[in-house]
Amino acid sequence: MALFDKNRSGSSEPVRVDERLTHIAFILDGNGRWAKKRGLPREFGHTEGAKTFKRIVRYCGDIGIKVVTVYAFSTENWSRPKKEVDRIISLLDEYITGAEDELEENKIRYTFLGDKSVFSAEMAERMRRLEDVSSKYELRLNIALNYGSRAEIVHAAAELASSGEQITEQSLSEHMYTAGCPDPDLIVRTANERRLSNFLLWQAAYSELYFTPTLWPDMQPADVDLAVRDFYARERRYGGVTGK
Ligand code: IPE
Ligand code: IPE
Ligand code: MG
Repeated sequence: MALFDKNRSGSSEPVRVDERLTHIAFILDGNGRWAKKRGLPREFGHTEGAKTFKRIVRYCGDIGIKVVTVYAFSTENWSRPKKEVDRIISLLDEYITGAEDELEENKIRYTFLGDKSVFSAEMAERMRRLEDVSSKYELRLNIALNYGSRAEIVHAAAELASSGEQITEQSLSEHMYTAGCPDPDLIVRTANERRLSNFLLWQAAYSELYFTPTLWPDMQPADVDLAVRDFYARERRYGGVTGK
């Protein structure tokens, strides 16, 4: 039973999720368009997007989500102009430093999905330290940073091949960057694009997909509510048959 009244018109009960919606993932998109609409350089969209990131993660925790994954920077995003890439990476680095300072307050367990070795030694160390010091907390935040799903699958397969371990669906899952996390129940992509762009291709086998025209910097808790309500109106069959 959904933990809110989706039939009520006008003001409805606050959204609260249950065990059917454990993991929500966001493909945050539209930062550049948000800035362009205002006649600003794209970097301004990323600055605003970073604020949205904090707001949305906090809200997901408030409504009872256990795992949040955010696609922050892909392996393909390195092809963008250097000025833009530098801005995004420095915003993420600032976020990481701030997250360690606010650990007691936010109580988030951070994991980075992606190869850290491409970052400066100092930044990679800050990422590792944040993972370590936050490991006692329950609300899990996966930040996909220098992440590409095909690279992740190849990396997992190569690890299995070199260890000689048997290749099974379970062993491959255990060698993904998301090891130990349930698969995403719901993947939300903003800014009107309807593709996965190399995000969680393995883990998304049975995820529900939700697309919204809202640009990421404009994303509000109410937009998350819409996605959650939409999720609860669906029937997940996993290839089987169920009576509705
Ligand atoms: C998402 O916004 C942020 C990253 C991919 C890093 P974009 O920068 O892709 O914004 P648009 O798609 O150009 O509007
Ligand atoms: C996907 O967004 C990557 C992230 C959200 C980090 P892009 O804006 O890079 O995706 P495409 O190029 O539109 O597919
Ligand atoms: Mg984009």
